[in-house]
Amino acid sequence: MNPFSFVKQTISPSYLGVDIGTTSIKIAEVTGGEQLPKLVNYGILESKSSLARANTVFQTSSLKLFEKGIEEILGTLLEKVQPHTKEAIASLPGFSAFMTVVDFPEMSPQDLARAIGFKAKEYIPLPVNEVALDWLNVGTYEDEKGMRYVQVLLISVPQEQIRKYQQIFRNVGLTLRALEIEGLSLVRSLIAGDPTPTLIMDIGSRSTAAIIADKGVLRFATQSDFAGASLTQSLAASLNINPVRAEEMKRERGILGTGPVSELSTIMSPMLDAILNEVKRSLRVYESQFHDSRNMERIILSGGGANLMGIEAYVSEAMGVPAVKAAPLHRFEYESGIEPLAGELGPFLSVALGLSLREFT
Ligand SMILES: Nc1ncnc2c1ncn2[C@@H]1O[C@H](COP(=O)(O)OP(=O)(O)OP(=O)(O)O)[C@@H](O)[C@H]1O
Ligand SMILES: [Mg+2]
Repeated sequence: MNPFSFVKQTISPSYLGVDIGTTSIKIAEVTGGEQLPKLVNYGILESKSSLARANTVFQTSSLKLFEKGIEEILGTLLEKVQPHTKEAIASLPGFSAFMTVVDFPEMSPQDLARAIGFKAKEYIPLPVNEVALDWLNVGTYEDEKGMRYVQVLLISVPQEQIRKYQQIFRNVGLTLRALEIEGLSLVRSLIAGDPTPTLIMDIGSRSTAAIIADKGVLRFATQSDFAGASLTQSLAASLNINPVRAEEMKRERGILGTGPVSELSTIMSPMLDAILNEVKRSLRVYESQFHDSRNMERIILSGGGANLMGIEAYVSEAMGVPAVKAAPLHRFEYESGIEPLAGELGPFLSVALGLSLREFT
């Protein structure tokens, strides 16, 4: 035994990935493992009041209400999880960022940065000095005349939103090392460089994100307002039961198609179809914007909504593309006690794990 081996352990830093969703906060603490990064701690806490609000429309006003609770929930979560680090990386939900794809003639990186600065104000809905602007190279192509173009995904986030996050993290005693849009975290944890054209559907509580990755990188992302809470609402309305009970039934029975429990499937399928129609629309926009777009070869289902029993078969059938549940824990070492939970935890933790991986790849 190397008597100093413990030194390595204590100096291996750990990081906290923090995913603040509309109804729950997920955190994952990750450190360097023997072969892979190691998940040492995690926590998921749902806001109790979220179900009571299941009937309110998804509006900024209700989001603001929730923001007051973020600090409290995050604080409680940290108390329970007792992480060994204060270094946090957090995600911004898709709906708080504005994203658009813009084509530029091919030019040097410096010129491109300048051109983006000039062009940005044509594309973003807020004054340029009120947003943080970032961009990703998402493609190149050549037109009929042989002119080469680069495609840039412009990402702008209101400064106000960033300040709010910084304040929240400061107040709970964490250091915010970085903020990124959740699409990037998902691509890191679920695609891991795999070149297959892939659609990630992140079905949260209030929104579903459609994220397209090809050749291992994020290319396109959109957001729609139908998600897990919409499914609960349709059950509650149709069976005339309260949202808390509807939520329980949804989680217990899912949409398994046959036998005595198929009733739920019938009730929820129109809303599921609405979710999938939005996703199909995103795919069409993607195809129209990218000359080199390829057909999706797989769908990865993430977010709590991916735990709906029977959803993989439903989505595979409706989209004509094989769909699987996200399994980001494959990329980590973890205690064997987590194993029985890994299947259900994976979809919830995809974003938080992807955030922490920023520091390990
Ligand atoms: N076993 C399950 N079956 C069906 N749905 C489930 C299950 N477990 C959780 N959900 C749903 O997952 C949703 C919460 O997922 P998640 O935690 O990813 O959302 P969020 O990140 O808070 O929301 P958003 O991404 O919209 O901001 C809820 O709508 C919940 O009903
Ligand atoms: Mg989410």
